[in-house]
Amino acid sequence: MKTGIDSIAFSTSKYSLNLDVLAKKRNVAREKYYLGIGQTKMSIFPPNEDIVTVAIDAARKVLAQIEDKNDVDMLIFATESSFDLSKSAGIYVHKFLKLRDDCRVFDVKQACYSAAAALQLARFYVKDNPNSKVLVIGSDIIRYLPETSGEPTQGGAAVAFIVSKNPRILEVEPCFGVHTVDVADFWRPVCLKEALFDGKLSAYNYLRSLDICTKRYFEKSGFSSDDIDHVCFHAPFGKMARKANNQSFNSKTIEETLVYNSLIGNSCSASLFISFISLADNFGGDLTGSRIGFFSYGSGSVAEFFCGVISENYKKMLTADDNKIMLEEREDISFEEYESLYKEEFCDFRAYKNIGSVTLSGVDNNKRVYGNIEKCENSFAGF
Ligand code: HMG
Repeated sequence: MKTGIDSIAFSTSKYSLNLDVLAKKRNVAREKYYLGIGQTKMSIFPPNEDIVTVAIDAARKVLAQIEDKNDVDMLIFATESSFDLSKSAGIYVHKFLKLRDDCRVFDVKQACYSAAAALQLARFYVKDNPNSKVLVIGSDIIRYLPETSGEPTQGGAAVAFIVSKNPRILEVEPCFGVHTVDVADFWRPVCLKEALFDGKLSAYNYLRSLDICTKRYFEKSGFSSDDIDHVCFHAPFGKMARKANNQSFNSKTIEETLVYNSLIGNSCSASLFISFISLADNFGGDLTGSRIGFFSYGSGSVAEFFCGVISENYKKMLTADDNKIMLEEREDISFEEYESLYKEEFCDFRAYKNIGSVTLSGVDNNKRVYGNIEKCENSFAGF
């Protein structure tokens, strides 16, 4: 049975910081960010938006593409940015999407790798339950300390996709190459809001893992790089994906995979799948029948390489114009606003716009309170 991605969408914050602005304030040549790192903007999240609200927006777009949302009987929420060590972020999403109450909901975590793990889990589940659809969400927001080398690679977004039989976008093939090794290259202690990292070690281990995963994949599949038409990478910043591509594939379409991530920044679990949406939206020709490689890397570390084949009529499932408008319509904020949001000095939950129709309206006794925006506007405290 063919299984894979049946519909896919992403969402990000309504606000961004242009890296020109950051370069000027940090006294760094803009070329370092634009060319050396390969990023031009990063999404900045206001207090009313978090991994849940942006995930709901992405998930609503994919649910709109399936006939009956009651076919969804499992929701896997992949994140490394959770605000709760116990309750799944997916439960809030389940509520606002009004999914059936016998739908299994849980979070998975392994840095940026988690959504790729969720995709594989979902496929295994659909093979046993062919009429089921699984909603997979990867949603992350990443902060580094100001004035560190990671600062221009902050960002955030959510991707959502439906995994089913006879997928209309991508049939994921069964072969994979995985590599797991304990490395202290990037970590997010629960007492901190910022991620800590060893930049050089993380880049080294990313490329080493790519080498090991692809060798394992080629050995198992009997394929060589000539059998793969295009490759999408986890893109913590554009240059990392370009280096990975130069090392292992030299695919001509690397630039098409980076269009969206270069404007969003690192979206961790969502990043690899946004590379894929970017390729599908921005590739000039027809990808039908093409074999696409996927390299997922999550610090710590687990990495995986696998492939999928593009389905006939996949173009009917794309929302390229909407994706471009979403990114173009973001508002660029000033450096002062960026600093103030970073320090959480300005915590007016009503002062900023949301990407979708659900907002984080406050935190009451450490409990997060979400609401539908129209209701919030009419009666802010009362929903
Ligand atoms: P840095 O210290 O700023 O790097 O850190 P650099 O000084 O080596 O400069 C970067 C590049 O800019 C170099 O090019 C310079 O030559 C170039 P390269 O040698 O790499 O080709 N450069 C210039 N180019 C043009 N004009 C100029 C100029 N000046 C310099 N004027 C680094 C950069 C990305 C390492 C840092 O941002 C960092 O550590 N980020 C955080 C960690 C990270 O993203 N690691 C990536 C791999 S790990 C991963 O992907 C997992 C992750 O997503 C987390 C998870 O799994 O959850 C992070």
